[in-house]
Amino acid sequence: MAASLWDKKALFFGGKGGVGKTTCAAAFGLLAAQRGLKTLVVSTDPAHNLGDIFAVHINEEGELAPNLWGYEIDPAKESSRYIAQIKEQLKNVVSPVIMEEIERQVEAAYSAPGSEEAAVFDKFIDMLERLDREFDLLIFDTAPTGHTLRLLSLPELLAAWIDRLIKQREKANRLLAMAAVGAPDLKDRANREDPVLSTLKRRQERFGRARDFLVDSQQAAFIFVLNAEKLPILETKKALSVLKKNHIPVGGIIINRLLPETAADAFWSQRKRREAECLAEIERSFGDLILARLPLLPDDIYGRAALDQVVALLARQLAA
Ligand SMILES: Nc1ncnc2c1ncn2[C@@H]1O[C@H](COP(=O)(O)OP(=O)(O)OP(=O)(O)O)[C@@H](O)[C@H]1O
Ligand SMILES: [Mg+2]
Repeated sequence: MAASLWDKKALFFGGKGGVGKTTCAAAFGLLAAQRGLKTLVVSTDPAHNLGDIFAVHINEEGELAPNLWGYEIDPAKESSRYIAQIKEQLKNVVSPVIMEEIERQVEAAYSAPGSEEAAVFDKFIDMLERLDREFDLLIFDTAPTGHTLRLLSLPELLAAWIDRLIKQREKANRLLAMAAVGAPDLKDRANREDPVLSTLKRRQERFGRARDFLVDSQQAAFIFVLNAEKLPILETKKALSVLKKNHIPVGGIIINRLLPETAADAFWSQRKRREAECLAEIERSFGDLILARLPLLPDDIYGRAALDQVVALLARQLAA
């Protein structure tokens, strides 16, 4: 299974807060880059620390290592950029009076809850479009599970929203054509030549393409990082069933921060016993998905030397 991961175009790293998603995404990115794949690691977590791990300051997009680039999406900035871009596209094609109404609608739609995620999702589609041209592989370091799953269910929500807008627009065009001349052939022409409608349809196609990409197990895979503890296990189970429901392919799981065997005193022996129980449960529940088991290292993973340790551990296990 591990070998086929390198054939993918996009890998998504998910999991509960603090389990090691960013660390694993960064290590995977380095491994991929070392294998000769031009790789972009994209962080969709509003609290960025991708650059921090490499001890590099990437101002939005920057180089992290040979063959490896990082991109930190700023949801708030992306959201206002997105609104501005939609307005700009429409400004050139509609009258100022209609523009005012459209601006109101766009503002309302994008100040609603979830609008930042919509903008992040739009950015995600931009990234997909850069595949092949600039990159061989995209690695997404996502925000904790709930947030990410919402993001992945967005294509459907957005498609439904755009669908509604298209229907409204078509209806308005129909009424307009009828009111103007009453000639039925004008109805089709009004729809065909309506720039607002074609902008909406282009967006609809874009979301459709992203959705097709996400459910294509040849191209995309979701990797869960978890610790051998009760709550991350429960959350992973829940997330796996949500992904299954949404037909999003799962590439495997990484068990991170396993305690060393040398637990001497009673406290650590107790923790190690508890961990062994959890590990047994992980093996029972999703044994065939395990890609790697990573030990808890003595230090935080910060800077290339520390990260290279993780890369070496991962490389060994993925090859096995
Ligand atoms: N195997 C490990 N050994 C030691 N420290 C680790 C290990 N894995 C991760 N860490 C440390 O744990 C902390 C959390 O890791 P990381 O930032 O990768 O988690 P995350 O899942 O991305 O967190 P968040 O949900 O906040 O984005 C970091 O300080 C990291 O250096
Ligand atoms: Mg993180």
